[in-house]
Amino acid sequence: MHKKGLQVAIDGPASAGKSTVAKVVAKRFNYIYVDTGAMYRVVTLKAIEEHLKLDDEIKILDLLKKINIEFKPGNPVQHVYVDGHEVTNQIRSENVTNNVSTVAALPAIRKELVKRQQQIAADGGVVMDGRDIGTTVLPNAEVKIFLIASVTERAERRYLENKKNGINVTLTDLKREIETRDYKDSHRKISPLKKAKDAIEIDTTSMTIDQVVDEISNLISKKIVEI
Ligand code: DC
Repeated sequence: MHKKGLQVAIDGPASAGKSTVAKVVAKRFNYIYVDTGAMYRVVTLKAIEEHLKLDDEIKILDLLKKINIEFKPGNPVQHVYVDGHEVTNQIRSENVTNNVSTVAALPAIRKELVKRQQQIAADGGVVMDGRDIGTTVLPNAEVKIFLIASVTERAERRYLENKKNGINVTLTDLKREIETRDYKDSHRKISPLKKAKDAIEIDTTSMTIDQVVDEISNLISKKIVEI
């Protein structure tokens, strides 16, 4: 076991409920929660703000090397800061959402962010969610979860979430956007979205958040006893 507890990896496609569940699980075990998708979103936001071409790997890497990304606990969402400025809402904009897969496919960007993620998780006591945590970032994580849900269910969840936040996007558009992102995330050359061999798959389509949290918490508790 690491100094501060287990490494828990939660991967899965867009809007499968990873961050909602991961945050509650982390709180239960007093672990830190790291939303790696937010890191890719931050880079995308900054690249857009700087009017960089989103496939310009060298310039975007240059930009990334100069910025500091920080997380602070918050409810219902974790707060995200870049060099001390809060960007929690900006990184969820439709513009960032629709472009993040392009930036996340750049190998140099992935290498730099994976390095930062591994540093954060080095002492354990961490729940990290993303697409490649179990396969690439933390291949030795003691608990690996792969969360899935049907596209319709995921689009409906996003629709309700958007409505709450005053964002107006149709269900059809959300479905299309989720399918496009799934395709891009699973077909990119480097670290595509893929279930790790030793990950446990949980289909959350007809489960409540509490049920998913309980199932993952039981797996973690069992592992803690074993080690
Ligand atoms: O989880 P999310 O929707 O906030 O992630 C945003 C994008 O970042 C997603 O389209 C894929 C990418 N991503 C990734 O490639 N690897 C990760 N570990 C996390 C996210």
